[in-house]
Amino acid sequence: TVPSLTLNDSTTIPQLGVGVWQVPAEDTERVVSDALEIGYRHVDTAQMYGNESGVGAALKASGLARGDYYVTTKLNNGFHRPDDAKRTLHESLRRLGLDKVDLFLIHWPLPTQYDGDFVSTWQALVDLQAEGLTTSVGVSNFQPAHLDRIVAETGVAPVVNQIEVHPYFGNEDARAATHRHGALVEGWSPLGQGGGELTDPVITGIAVEHGKSPAQVVLRWHLDRGDIVFPKSTHRDRLQQNFEVFDFALTPEQVAAISALDKGEAGRTGPNPDVFDWIPRD
Ligand code: A2P
Repeated sequence: TVPSLTLNDSTTIPQLGVGVWQVPAEDTERVVSDALEIGYRHVDTAQMYGNESGVGAALKASGLARGDYYVTTKLNNGFHRPDDAKRTLHESLRRLGLDKVDLFLIHWPLPTQYDGDFVSTWQALVDLQAEGLTTSVGVSNFQPAHLDRIVAETGVAPVVNQIEVHPYFGNEDARAATHRHGALVEGWSPLGQGGGELTDPVITGIAVEHGKSPAQVVLRWHLDRGDIVFPKSTHRDRLQQNFEVFDFALTPEQVAAISALDKGEAGRTGPNPDVFDWIPRD
């Protein structure tokens, strides 16, 4: 069974979920339905992914009780203005078929079409939490300085920071800053998006020792480091495989050997939120 972790607002989150980034809208209901049948109870989506309706359809079709699953969505970059944040959370809830999400994140620490900044957006999310539209609030792609600012200026720490993490990109500075603020790390692209981790000899060697696949070893590494992950796959057999990571454990030496594959900035696949000057839209 999937362990639950306790967040800094005393709520709990399943440590493993299913992600739907880059899952086409027309495939999302099937993928999430497969995941729920396999036993996943945590779904990570975003306004930007364009597939919240498919998530909602799968949740409805599952017949599961609301308290039995955990849903995260994220505020689109164009909607940082506080009234836009509120309006679009209502729209997300309608697409998801929910009265409340479990977790609402600022997707990227930048505003567009808005002369404010992410601190007022963060305060807007805290207000939406007080209104009861989301149980918890967090951030995504925040660098240490972004985290320091929202906490200093609002007094409220996020429950999680969802950042790029995989063996070739440990993102240790952002992980450490997240932990310093009492938040947990959610690692996006946990399998490295085909960047070579799954054929790295260190990882394939450990996989052979355990009779597991390289993907299962990489997911186990994230879990052993205490991070939350939600690998995505459009293939049911891979969804199943990615769920079967609770019947073995890595040794501390194996965790360290995988962590040592970190290439620093060279391992990053997405934009560096400290320096990028374009707005990811999908
Ligand atoms: P697919 O959807 O075709 O199964 P990340 O989570 O790091 O972004 O990586 C997701 C990528 O890894 C997707 O391209 C997905 O492809 C693939 N993937 C997911 N699970 C597995 C697995 N168990 N083994 C190999 N590749 C996988």
